[in-house]
Amino acid sequence: MTSTTARALPGFLSAEVAADPDAFYRRLRAEDPVHWDDGYQGYLISKHADVGFAYRNPLFSTQNYEVSLQPVFGRSMLQMDGAEHSRKKALVTPYFRGKGLEKWAPVIARNVATILDRSVTSASEHIVRGFRPGDTVDLLADFGYYLPVYVITDMLGLPHSDYDRFFDWYSRHVAFLGNLARDPEIDERGRRATKELWEYLAPVVEDRRSHLGEDLISGLITAEIDGERLDDLEILTHVTQLLNAGSETTGKALASMFAYLLRERELFEEVREDRAQVVPAISETLRISPPSQMNGRKTTQDVDLHGAHLPAGTLVMLLMASANRDEDRFHDPDTFDFHRPDLDHTKTFSAAGDTFAFGSGRHFCLGAMLAKSELEMAANVLLDRFPDMRLADGFTPRWAGLKMRSVDRLTVTL
Ligand code: HEM
Repeated sequence: MTSTTARALPGFLSAEVAADPDAFYRRLRAEDPVHWDDGYQGYLISKHADVGFAYRNPLFSTQNYEVSLQPVFGRSMLQMDGAEHSRKKALVTPYFRGKGLEKWAPVIARNVATILDRSVTSASEHIVRGFRPGDTVDLLADFGYYLPVYVITDMLGLPHSDYDRFFDWYSRHVAFLGNLARDPEIDERGRRATKELWEYLAPVVEDRRSHLGEDLISGLITAEIDGERLDDLEILTHVTQLLNAGSETTGKALASMFAYLLRERELFEEVREDRAQVVPAISETLRISPPSQMNGRKTTQDVDLHGAHLPAGTLVMLLMASANRDEDRFHDPDTFDFHRPDLDHTKTFSAAGDTFAFGSGRHFCLGAMLAKSELEMAANVLLDRFPDMRLADGFTPRWAGLKMRSVDRLTVTL
């Protein structure tokens, strides 16, 4: 419902909101918590309780992804519900939980070391250069973006040497996902990326059928639930989603965390000296600066929420970045404080978490525990190797982005 005050709110897709989304979300929470936006042609949901309600209520379906995801991922599990969703998620869940996940710990450790040592032979020049104390590097582009791509490609049994291509494909996919104004050029670039990626992957899947291994693609080929196996298109869709979902997100989380720690050096020193604070620092970063800031949904029936009536078929945007800073849920929400008593860090990586960085409800992030392992290991190794790390002289971190948001680079002297 657009109230008189709310009419003064800027458009969701305006330059003003892009410049400072948190200020806009603060106003939404205070003035119009379920707010119609003309530019988006849907409602913006900004309060913690309402976002949680919508994530967990099947009336808020993921049918929105038919337009904003399917053209680049294929029909992925994010779009499914009910038994179909459970079956398709169950095929990959064993690789991302418990013993299945533990198996990948050495893979993550090896990749952290590999990237820092820059010892891999690769066409790209920066990958060959070593990281040494005193060097100045961009922790986002030179480390954060590499790590999750290297880890997931190892899991899938794909070569690191194609990093530049994976990076290009997923960057175009991420732009497609964040294209809230549906700019046709961005959409087209995303669709072309999928075509190229699938042309690359199809022969790999074909070959893997006769050379099965321990990797995740082999796992998808052989997985069977209720006598059902995945066809080629479903395998390509799964692989596309796995390559994408954890890449930009994990890299951005790492960079934002080090930005918060290095801005106030005593925080960096505290975490460096007491490693029990690494996970709380990751968890607080994901609260105050979730890499993925919002998820869309579409109502399947009429539903009333916070005084607003949403007819069936209405688009809504669940603003987790706003919910995570809701002053009715978190004390002093704009302050980065990994000792805050109102955030249970042990729950952050489960569907019972206090924040929505990984979503909530049935589509809760499949890779949350993998992301935790990557971030924790990477942070510990960086703190061990570069105890004197600091922001490069004259560099001030700047957060950018609307759908996806983090520091746009993090120039540090190691
Ligand atoms: C810090 C890192 C990450 C963040 C912030 C993140 C965030 C999210 C969010 C918000 C969702 C829910 C989307 C929705 O409900 O519409 C989600 C779902 C998902 N994520 Fe992640 N993610 C991360 C890492 C990963 C990793 C490493 C993987 C796997 C390699 C992964 C795979 C998935 C998948 C497959 C889904 C869909 C689950 C379903 O539909 O049931 N994510 N993620």
